[in-house]
Amino acid sequence: MNTAATPGAVHDFAEWREAARALLKAGVPPEAANWGTLDGGDLFWGAPAATAPADNGGSRLQEAQSPGPPAARVPRSLLEMLRRAACFRAPDRWAFLYRVLWRWTRGEHDVQSPADPDGSRLHGMVKAVRREEHDMHAYIRFRERPPEAGDPRFVAWFEPRHDVLPQVAEHFVARMGKISWMIATPEASVLWDGHTLHNTGPLMSSAADLDDAGEALWLTYYRSIFNPARVNAQLMQSHIPSRFWKNLPEGAIVPSLVSQAELGARKIGQVEAVGRKGGATIPISAEAAQPDREQPSKLDECRRCELWQYATQAVGGEGSKRSPIMIVGEQPGDQEDLAGKPFVGPAGKLLDQVFAQAELDRKAIYLTNAVKHFKWEPRGKRRLHKTPVQREIEACHYWLEKELAAVRPKVIVAMGATALKSVMRKGTVALKDFLGKPVRIDGAWLVTIYHPSYVLRVPDEAAKHEAFSVMVKGLRLAHELLARPDMPDPDEDAQGGR
Ligand code: URA
Repeated sequence: MNTAATPGAVHDFAEWREAARALLKAGVPPEAANWGTLDGGDLFWGAPAATAPADNGGSRLQEAQSPGPPAARVPRSLLEMLRRAACFRAPDRWAFLYRVLWRWTRGEHDVQSPADPDGSRLHGMVKAVRREEHDMHAYIRFRERPPEAGDPRFVAWFEPRHDVLPQVAEHFVARMGKISWMIATPEASVLWDGHTLHNTGPLMSSAADLDDAGEALWLTYYRSIFNPARVNAQLMQSHIPSRFWKNLPEGAIVPSLVSQAELGARKIGQVEAVGRKGGATIPISAEAAQPDREQPSKLDECRRCELWQYATQAVGGEGSKRSPIMIVGEQPGDQEDLAGKPFVGPAGKLLDQVFAQAELDRKAIYLTNAVKHFKWEPRGKRRLHKTPVQREIEACHYWLEKELAAVRPKVIVAMGATALKSVMRKGTVALKDFLGKPVRIDGAWLVTIYHPSYVLRVPDEAAKHEAFSVMVKGLRLAHELLARPDMPDPDEDAQGGR
C-alpha cells in the first residue's frame, strides 16, 4: 500500500512531482521516504522540457488546477534541472531528486550549486542528459524505406544512455514536417505519422531489424563525398564517439576508406571510385559537401575537442557585451570550472588588483578565455591546471570568434601565450615579441600582457612586482588606445572580417 512515506513505483517526472509534493506536505524527510530502486525504464513518457509549464519567477511543484496540498515553490531553474535530471538513468534517481528538493525547501539553496556534493551530482546528471540529447540529434541516421513498404517512410535505431526519447522526438517533429518516421530504441519507440506522435513499447531489438534499403543509398553518398585529403582519423573519432559507430552506416566503411587514403589516395584527393568518375565538376566546396553534422549550438554542448569530458561545465565569457575592450585569458581554473564563471579564483583576485591599479571597472569590460573547458591532471586530491595544446586552442577559437563578432571590441587584451596564440591563430607566436607592443588585428588593437597566474608564480618579489606593473601598464595602454584619434574604425579596416 502506498503511504506518504512510501510513494511506490514512480514512472515519470509528473508522477514523481505529485509524490514529492505529498511527501513534502507530510514533512517526510528523504531518509524516511521509500522510493524503491526502480531504475526508471518506464520513464520514457515523462513530459519533455519543451512542454514544461512555466511561470515568470518560479514554478509550482503542483500544477495549478490539480487539487491537493499547497504547492512548494521552487525556482524555475531548479525545476528544469530536476526535470532534466529525471531523464538520467540511475536506480536511485527519484530518491535523489527528492533529497535535492527537500534540502532546497529547507532553505539549503546551495544544493543547486555545483560546489555542493548533491548539487554537483545534479549538475552532472543534467549535463549527461543534455549530452545524450545532443548525441541523439547528431548521430541518429534515418533510413528510407521502399515506397511499397508504406509508412513510416524513414526509420532509425538508437541506443540512448538516458531517457531522452520524448524530447528528441519533439526535435524531429519540428524538423521533418509531414514526412512519416519512426525512431526505435531498446526501451520504446515513437512513430510520427505526419500529424500525431505515437508512443509505443519496444518494436525492434537491434539495428539489424531496420530495413536496409536506405543503407546502400547512404553508403554510396558517403563514399562519394569522402575526401581522404581532409581525413583526420583521430579527429573523426573524437567527433563521433566510438559507441555510435556501430549504428552509423558510414561507420562500417570509414576504416577502409581511411586506410585507402593512407596508402596514397591522398595524392588524388578522392578515393579511387570517385576518381574514376567522369562528368562535370560540382562547383561546391568540400565543406559544403560534407554530411550534415550539427555544430554545437550551445557552448555547453561543445565537443569540438575532448576537454569537455573532464570538465564540470563550459565557462563562457562575462561582462559588458558593449565593452570596447575584450580581455582574453587562457582557460578556466579549478574554481572557475565549479562556479561556471571566469576569473573567480586566485588569478581572478590578482586580476582585480590589476584592474584597480589601472582604474578600470571589471564589470564594464568583457572578460573571457581562449579555451572554455578546464584542462587538468589529477595530483592527489587536487586538479592541477594543464596548458591546452594548439589543437584545443584552435577548436575553441570557434567560440572566441562568436564572442568577438558579438562584442566587436576595439581593443583585445591577450593575457599570456595561450590567449595570444588563439587571437593570432598561430601556434608559434612568442609572448616576449608582443609584450608592450600593440599590433592591429582584424580591425582592432591587440595588446599583450602577462597572465595573472604567471605573476602569482614568479618566486622573486622584485620580478613579481615588475610583472604586475607590466599588466597594469598594458591595461592602461588598452584604455589609451581607445582614445587614439588615428585609430581606424574596425569597420573601415581593410582586414576587418568579424
Ligand atoms: N585563468 C584563466 O586564464 N582564466 C580563468 O578564468 C581563470 C584562471
